[in-house]
Amino acid sequence: MIYPIYVYGTSVLRKKAEEIDQNYEGLDQLIEDMYETMKHSDGIGLAAPQIGKSIRLFIIDGSETSTEEGEEDLRNFKKAFINPLILEESGDFWSFNEGCLSIPAIREDVERQERIRIQYYDPEFNFRDEVYEGVKARIIQHEYDHLEGILFTDKINPLRKRLINGKLNAIARGKVDAEYKIKFSVKK
Ligand code: NI
Repeated sequence: MIYPIYVYGTSVLRKKAEEIDQNYEGLDQLIEDMYETMKHSDGIGLAAPQIGKSIRLFIIDGSETSTEEGEEDLRNFKKAFINPLILEESGDFWSFNEGCLSIPAIREDVERQERIRIQYYDPEFNFRDEVYEGVKARIIQHEYDHLEGILFTDKINPLRKRLINGKLNAIARGKVDAEYKIKFSVKK
């Protein structure tokens, strides 16, 4: 099943998402649907709040990316992260042009640290403790932020933010062309 994507302005994107446990109903199906939704909308990562579910789950699938998007080969990077916790971020801050399915048609440079250590559960609820760097770390940091109610546009410089403010407000009113179905907050 393909879900509509909740876009900028919807309240679910601003909530801190809740942890889930092994008994969460329909978890395997949900993860499968998230992969399908993401593929359909041509994304590389998708967090549950982006489909209106305020739970601590995100997926990443780099299998269809070209190497142009980073110096690393992301094509074998396909994973679901459940109840993730970033324990540590380290290394230099570096800039990368980010986009987000919840903020269609906007890309901006965002500074993040180059390395992370993350603990999470995989879909079989095995505990994982891993280190990532570069573009992989970047994608995880972006998706992780969604679980904290943070969007990449919160992290860009104030001048850029002012310049795109009109576009962001338009997205909140549903005035944006996306190749996929969206849910927006209706404002009077
Ligand atoms: Ni995003």
